[in-house]
Amino acid sequence: MTVPAAPGLAPSPAVPLPHGLRPVPLSPTLAINEALARKSREGLPVLPFGFGEAGIPIHPSLIRELAAAAGRGAYGPVAGSAALRAAAAGYWERRGLPTDPDLVVSGPGSKALLFGLLTALGGDVVVPAPSWVTYAAQTELTGAAAIRVATPPGEGGVPSPALLADAVVRARARGRTVRAVVLTLPDNPTGTLAGEETVARVCAVARDLDLVIICDEIYRDLVHDPGRVLPSAAAHAPERTVVTTALSKQHAAGGWRIGVARLPDGPFGHALRASLLGIGSEIWSSPPAPMQHAAAYAFGEPDELVAHVARGRRLHAAVTTAVAARFRAAGALVREPEAAFYLYPDLEPLRDRLRAEHGVRTGADLTGLLLERYGLGVLPGVVFGDAPEALRMRVAPSLVYGADDEHRHAALAAADPAALPWIAAALDRLSGILADVAGGGR
Ligand SMILES: Cc1ncc(COP(=O)(O)O)c(C=O)c1O
Repeated sequence: MTVPAAPGLAPSPAVPLPHGLRPVPLSPTLAINEALARKSREGLPVLPFGFGEAGIPIHPSLIRELAAAAGRGAYGPVAGSAALRAAAAGYWERRGLPTDPDLVVSGPGSKALLFGLLTALGGDVVVPAPSWVTYAAQTELTGAAAIRVATPPGEGGVPSPALLADAVVRARARGRTVRAVVLTLPDNPTGTLAGEETVARVCAVARDLDLVIICDEIYRDLVHDPGRVLPSAAAHAPERTVVTTALSKQHAAGGWRIGVARLPDGPFGHALRASLLGIGSEIWSSPPAPMQHAAAYAFGEPDELVAHVARGRRLHAAVTTAVAARFRAAGALVREPEAAFYLYPDLEPLRDRLRAEHGVRTGADLTGLLLERYGLGVLPGVVFGDAPEALRMRVAPSLVYGADDEHRHAALAAADPAALPWIAAALDRLSGILADVAGGGR
């Protein structure tokens, strides 16, 4: 299935491309960012709630470590340095997952590792609906199909266990080879965290159906309640679970492009490692050497970085909670945010009015209207695999923490970040847009 481009984003080409090129649209999260940047350059006011960027400054000690390693120009091992793999193993160990450093593979971002894993597995993949845009897009790039399975209410990032079994049995009956299921704990796009029991049931189904579990834990350290225990697929199904993470979100270093995967112990894990390294060796050769040094430092979790991540977590919690309140006040349905910097409000209660006043019938109609008329960049649920008519959208408010590092540091330090003038102004603007849209544009 091809994900349609939302209005305001680059449309898929209608005419055949030269030389039979495959049309591969820009990933919607990156496309919305570029659409907003264009509007901004044209001098139009924008409210950038579309891109999954953490929006906090990188901690100076991490920058210092990166700078110290800038002279490292050699390629190095495909799997990453021993120091990085040992540090990542320690990171997982402290989270209750004993890890053999030899089963850690690093790559230029967890996105690249996910693509390597999906290529190595080489079959159809079950992805939650909704889920991060890239899982389905990457699966299709490997020539396989993404099978979308709805999540239980309030538990984003995991397919409903009963629907999972049914979908896989039916796909196999049609002759499809289904190899894996992806979980996102906690979840992008909904900002929620599935419960232990659901994860345990998904793992049991995966074992019964012999599916590999790819558990994307890139937001693990951004669960708003730090006391909450993350349900662990790797604990429930250790023989078949791959865990991925990176520095992109908790350390706001997405542009550094460094990630790690923890492969399962045992013969399958070792075979998967060999395939993944083969793929990595043909695409990226080795992860960027200076980044590996910085990542080893980060995964070692020195006190100053732990404190920085905690401040980021509090900031995300405060602002997403404030944004949720603004949506609720405008009549939307929205769950209390639990993790990361995302919300997934549903404007279904406003459907009649949106249709009568603005001709809105689908989620993409709605987000197109918000972008074109108000400069509000959000992504419609359809790009995450939600039903096209659903009036749900992903809202990522982290880019309003500040236009520069001085403001972002102030946001991190604030007792009540939502009251800072620039964040309060963005929230008020959001309320104004929602009131205008819900009130028929008067
Ligand atoms: C669920 C999820 N996984 C992975 C990534 C990308 O990770 P990386 O920067 O490590 O490639 C993102 C970024 O948006 C994400 O939301």
